[in-house]
Amino acid sequence: MITPQLDALVESLRAEFAGESRGKVVARLLADYASTESDWRSFAFHAPKSYTRNLVERNEHFELLILCWDEGQESPIHDHEGQDCWMGVLDGDIEEVRYDTPAEGWRGPLEPRASATFERGQVAFIRDDIALHLVRGHGGAKAVSLHLYAAPIDACSIYCPETGEISRRTLAYHSKRGELVTVQD
Ligand code: SIN
Repeated sequence: MITPQLDALVESLRAEFAGESRGKVVARLLADYASTESDWRSFAFHAPKSYTRNLVERNEHFELLILCWDEGQESPIHDHEGQDCWMGVLDGDIEEVRYDTPAEGWRGPLEPRASATFERGQVAFIRDDIALHLVRGHGGAKAVSLHLYAAPIDACSIYCPETGEISRRTLAYHSKRGELVTVQD
């Protein structure tokens, strides 16, 4: 797979996370890539069953993924295991719906606190002390997004919107560096 701009992004992120400061620079690197480049396409696989998580890079500091959202697909409401999460839009428009973390023992529906729509090149940031969220293509349309988790996340808590009940979800990859690793119908 020849992906020179994506490889350059990974190298810049590696350099950034090896240093002391990060934050605005990470958001700018993701925004620059998302707004101008398209070699991510060889790592992007849509599937009819659910949105797909396609790994670009994983190291001790961060995990870079391309998420593909088919029509009507969305993530569950979830947290990020205390890690930082940046999300840039590569194609289509992405909607993020934010929720307050329910009080311990809460049983009942979760009400959205806010929602925002991001277009190609825009980058959002979330952490557990900011909110829980769900992500989907805006208006149920197809979309592709770039996600950076620092540090990598192998599982997260997901929240039932009707009851507030929490369960654990293991996070899997649909592909790694362009090679399919799971089969989704
Ligand atoms: C995921 O990584 O599966 C969900 C998207 C997100 O947390 O931003």
